Amino acid sequence: MPHTRELFIAPSILSADLLKLEEQVNLVVKNGADYIHVDVMDGHFVPNLTFGHNMVAALKRFVKIPIDTHLMISNPEQYIEAYAEAGTDILTVHQEACTHLHRTLQAIHQCGMKAGVSLNPATNVNTLEDVIDELDLILIMTVNPGFSGQTFIRHSLDKIRTARTLIEASGRNIRLEADGGINAETVAEVVVAGADMLVAGSAIFDKQDIVQAMQNIRMAGENAIQ
Ligand code: DX5
Ligand code: ZN
Repeated sequence: MPHTRELFIAPSILSADLLKLEEQVNLVVKNGADYIHVDVMDGHFVPNLTFGHNMVAALKRFVKIPIDTHLMISNPEQYIEAYAEAGTDILTVHQEACTHLHRTLQAIHQCGMKAGVSLNPATNVNTLEDVIDELDLILIMTVNPGFSGQTFIRHSLDKIRTARTLIEASGRNIRLEADGGINAETVAEVVVAGADMLVAGSAIFDKQDIVQAMQNIRMAGENAIQ
């Protein structure tokens, strides 16, 4: 396992205070966030409803780092152009929501975005073998999608290891993102297993000191792979 990986932190605004969104996002950007993670939920693919492409467009007006949009929606192929126009840099769809996953990934690229695929806890990593050439990012759900503040599922560590092996074998530059239950305690095992992009919602925005919380996650992650 190569231990020279750079780590990327992607705070999820799902846990931010929406009335203080600009202030809180500026704070994490100024203090080392690498991406802003936007969790889009449709009340159908997942049992919760959040925001849509207009949120990405609003963020794009003041955020200079890339926007990492995680679509937890049915029929994501219908919204690809809207997210491209809003300014999404990476668009991630769920494997379980795509009948024609290969076509959807190609469409994301044609719209000028990087393409990611997310896997629910029950979905096997091997399902990505046949679309690996179209991937810029693999997102392993480390909780069941739908809510922030859930407990990390330990079996996900095996899936992260399998995904890391798949990425190394492909020789491609593919980010490996872990999402759900990531905090200063769980992050070490996640990065040792092979993740290089870490989403954190409640472990950052639910804390009194947002900056310190983000630094604690980064420090624990970097210490684990030194
Ligand atoms: C869950 C979302 C996550 C969520 C993570 O369905 O995809 O991005 O914001 O929240 P925490 O970090 O609190 O588990
Ligand atoms: Zn997410």
